[in-house]
Amino acid sequence: MVVGKPFLTVEQIQHKVAELANRISSDYEGKNLLAVGILKGAFIFFSDIVRLIKTPLMVDFIIASSYMKTDSAGEVKIHYDIREDVSDKDVLLIEDIVDTGITLNYMRERLLMQGPKSLKICTFLDKKGRREVDVPIDYVGYEIPNEFVVGYGLDYDNKFRNLPYISVFKKRT
Ligand code: IMP
Ligand code: MG
Repeated sequence: MVVGKPFLTVEQIQHKVAELANRISSDYEGKNLLAVGILKGAFIFFSDIVRLIKTPLMVDFIIASSYMKTDSAGEVKIHYDIREDVSDKDVLLIEDIVDTGITLNYMRERLLMQGPKSLKICTFLDKKGRREVDVPIDYVGYEIPNEFVVGYGLDYDNKFRNLPYISVFKKRT
C-alpha cells in the first residue's frame, strides 16, 4: 500500500475550510444551526469547520457506513442517529466526501422525513464524475477527479485517517 505526496496540502485544506466557514457563518446569521457530522470520515473536517463558524450552533452526529474498501457497497447502514429534535433547526449535514451520492441521498431523505426547518449539505470533497444519485450540495470544498484519497479523516480500511493532508491512495500490485 502506498500513500504518496500530498494531493491537497495542510495549507490548502486550512484555506478552504476557512472559506467555507465564512460562507456558512454569513448564510446562517440569525438561524438555529444544528451541524451534523457524518462519522467516521468527517470527524476532522467537522471539528475544524465548527470552530471557524461564527454563528452559535449545536452539534450532533450520524454514524453510517456504506463503503467497503475502495468499492462502494451501495448500501447504507445507520449505527448512531441524531438525538436532537430537528423540527426547529436549520440542519447542516457535514460530510467528508461525496462519491456516488448514495450515502448522502439516503441520509438527506431520512432527515427530511423528520421535518427540519431547513436542510443543507456541506462536503469537503466532491467526486462529481462518479455520481449515481443526484444530491443537491450547497457547500463544496474541492471537486476532485476519480481517485481514491486518504487522510484528513478519510480512510482506507479505517487507516490513514490521521494523515494531516490528503493523498491519493494506490494499492501496491
Ligand atoms: P457514496 O455513498 O458513494 O457517495 O460514498 C460516500 C462515502 O464513501 C464517504 O462518506 C466516504 O466514507 C467513502 N468514500 C468515497 N470515496 C472515498 C475516497 O476516495 N476515500 C475514502 N473514502 C471514500
Ligand atoms: Mg469512510
